[in-house]
Amino acid sequence: MSRRRMIYEGKAKILYEGPEPGTLIQYFKDDATAFNAEKKAVLDGKGVLNNRISEFLMTRLSAVGIPNHFIKRLNMREQLIKKVEIIPLEVIVRNVAAGTMSKRLGIPEGETLPRAIVEFCYKKDELGDPLVSEEHIAAFGWASQQEMDDIVSLALRINDFMSGLFSAVGIRLIDFKLEFGRHFEGEMVRTILADEISPDSCRLWDYETNEKLDKDRFRRDLGGVTEAYAEVARRLGIIKESAQGGDVIDFTSGMK
Ligand code: CDP
Repeated sequence: MSRRRMIYEGKAKILYEGPEPGTLIQYFKDDATAFNAEKKAVLDGKGVLNNRISEFLMTRLSAVGIPNHFIKRLNMREQLIKKVEIIPLEVIVRNVAAGTMSKRLGIPEGETLPRAIVEFCYKKDELGDPLVSEEHIAAFGWASQQEMDDIVSLALRINDFMSGLFSAVGIRLIDFKLEFGRHFEGEMVRTILADEISPDSCRLWDYETNEKLDKDRFRRDLGGVTEAYAEVARRLGIIKESAQGGDVIDFTSGMK
């Protein structure tokens, strides 16, 4: 193992100092947590799959002009990223009611929303990432009005692009969570997409069967979690067509 400096350890990822100033290495762990880390497990191969899926999505988003922190994948579990100052917000985009929105507003899970809805949560584990309004964000200075406007417009563009990308492979993008950061470019500061986009942070349902292909399989004890993530990777053409759940083991074996 290298002796590089760890910057931060989160629930599913570790950040290390990068090889050049302004860069970091993002390492994807196999750890899964839910309900604010009350439920925990290690899911063999999850980190490898999320590294690949996030690489794929970030690369596609770059190609359509969505600025993001991804530079390149280094190996099965690590990617080189741009260092940003994380804006302490979890930005959730919803197309279909599910999860906390269904609970909070009593909308049956699976009901298509009249339009895409962007929500902000304050990123604070101790508080369980509470839903907040733009008023709170402005008053407490978590982000400026300009940053919020940029975030909403980027989030909706990301939603349009990803909804199309997933629907082309028979997957319905129900909702997802994004994080943004401030990237300092000389005198300029730009709001860019950071963190990851993977089945850990999205709800993805099969179009035909409504089968869940995301972290709800873990949250709701449905089993077959990594197999479902592998299915997403297979449909996106990231892992080979013939790969089934069992192959994930082969695919990940020998990988650090
Ligand atoms: O996931 P949960 O039901 O707790 O919350 P939600 O507000 O319904 O989550 C909306 C979307 O954001 C889902 O795709 C979650 O997987 C994702 N999310 C996340 O990745 N991280 C969080 N801390 C909260 C939500």
